[in-house]
Amino acid sequence: MRLLHRSIISAILVCAVFTGVVLAQDGGALFKAKCAGCHGAEGQGKIGPALKGTSLTADQIADLLTKGNDAKKPPHKKPLASLSADDAKSVAAFVKTLK
Ligand code: HEC
Repeated sequence: MRLLHRSIISAILVCAVFTGVVLAQDGGALFKAKCAGCHGAEGQGKIGPALKGTSLTADQIADLLTKGNDAKKPPHKKPLASLSADDAKSVAAFVKTLK
């Protein structure tokens, strides 16, 4: 009985950790899912320009993603609809780690 109890507790812990990971989407996974198709898996550029070593700050990148910029070509004329403000921040921080 005590053993069962312990495995239930560990199962709950594992679930909690897993949920935490899924909720706080990490920038790298977001980049792979939503940006790499155009900017390349390492941000080396593809359809879109290279992002590694960008001179933009993380804030400027997050702004571009969440607000769009009329002076830019699609898809960045408009905000990227599938990206929350928090997601934009994590993915922008990830872009700044690409070298
Ligand atoms: C459908 C293709 C596509 C997707 C998806 C896409 N981009 Fe872009 N991105 C572009 C293109 C094309 C440009 C160039 C726009 C221009 O210069 O007018 C660009 C430009 C940018 C720039 C500005 C670069 C600079 O030096 O001015 C940043 C930053 C950027 N993208 C980040 C992202 C991030 C982060 C994601 C994922 C959340 C993403 N993009 C998704 C195609 C895409």
